[in-house]
Amino acid sequence: MDSDKLMRTAQALVASGKGILAADESSPTIKKRFDSIDVESTEENRQAYRDLLFTTDGAEEFISGVILYEETLFQKGLSGTPFPELLSSKGVIPGIKVDKGAKPLAGSPNEKVTEGLDGLRDRLADYAKAGARFAKWRAVIDIADGEPTDYCLDVNAHALARYAALCQEAGIVPIVEPEVLMDGGHDLARCEAVTDATLIKVFEALKTQQVLLEGMLLKPNMIISGKKCGDQASVQAVAEATIRCLKRHVPAAVPGIVFLSGGQSDEVATAHLDAMNRLGPHPWQLSFSYGRALQAPALAAWRGKPENVEAAQKAYYLRAKCNGAAARGDYSDAMEKAA
Ligand code: 13P
Repeated sequence: MDSDKLMRTAQALVASGKGILAADESSPTIKKRFDSIDVESTEENRQAYRDLLFTTDGAEEFISGVILYEETLFQKGLSGTPFPELLSSKGVIPGIKVDKGAKPLAGSPNEKVTEGLDGLRDRLADYAKAGARFAKWRAVIDIADGEPTDYCLDVNAHALARYAALCQEAGIVPIVEPEVLMDGGHDLARCEAVTDATLIKVFEALKTQQVLLEGMLLKPNMIISGKKCGDQASVQAVAEATIRCLKRHVPAAVPGIVFLSGGQSDEVATAHLDAMNRLGPHPWQLSFSYGRALQAPALAAWRGKPENVEAAQKAYYLRAKCNGAAARGDYSDAMEKAA
């Protein structure tokens, strides 16, 4: 295992004021996003949309890496340059989503376990050859009556650690993503308790499977109230609970924590990250690996029309810039209005 290379890549992904764009929507997910703007999910439209994001001038000041879906890793941009090469030429590190999605868990079918370990060693070799230097695997933990079960947490933690160990063997930095969903009516305290239990299992499994903590990143949910909870916690309460939870479970050897946005609105996700960084300094870099919270305004501005590309890029640039500032605790409302 090339530990130095893994550590260098992990640190570069969380360089000060920079974070990750998650543009790795699977085919069903990108179809859902395109449906919302009445655009058909054809290979051509997916290429045009990803090209728009990746060629946005100046976004590389705030974006250290981009997570791609397999199709995009092997696709060319509109200029004819393969996407990984296009990103690398701007100093942006290409990454790849390697899991095969969350499937019903045998014996507890309301819960999910993420699949994709079979054949992963060979796939990782192909992805590395195509230019991927980091990867993502997402486990999904739902909060409901009596759930998550210990069984669900155990198997997901085991799979995350198996994936992470295989990535490191291949010289690829694993992003370990155990996502506690914000769906449901639970309150902040319940989200914190479930995230506590999840992170305990995840770091136990990473230790058992000898994953190099210095050569990985954690991608967790924030500690927030469930979407349907009547009592929505304030930005400050979310920031304090999230930091408290992470300090209890994430060793200082992990170079960075890059949050998912999970369905929060774009500006709220930015405000949460900013508030957490204002509580620092912390033992790890705290940044973003947002999908929806970076892309939503760009997607809405684009609507599949070439004449809207410039407006969409402007919208994406603004989100990247605001989140870059939040990663340093330097974000303000005025940044939104100045745009
Ligand atoms: P969201 O920020 O939209 O939650 O997406 C991040 C991600 O990559 C989820 O796996």
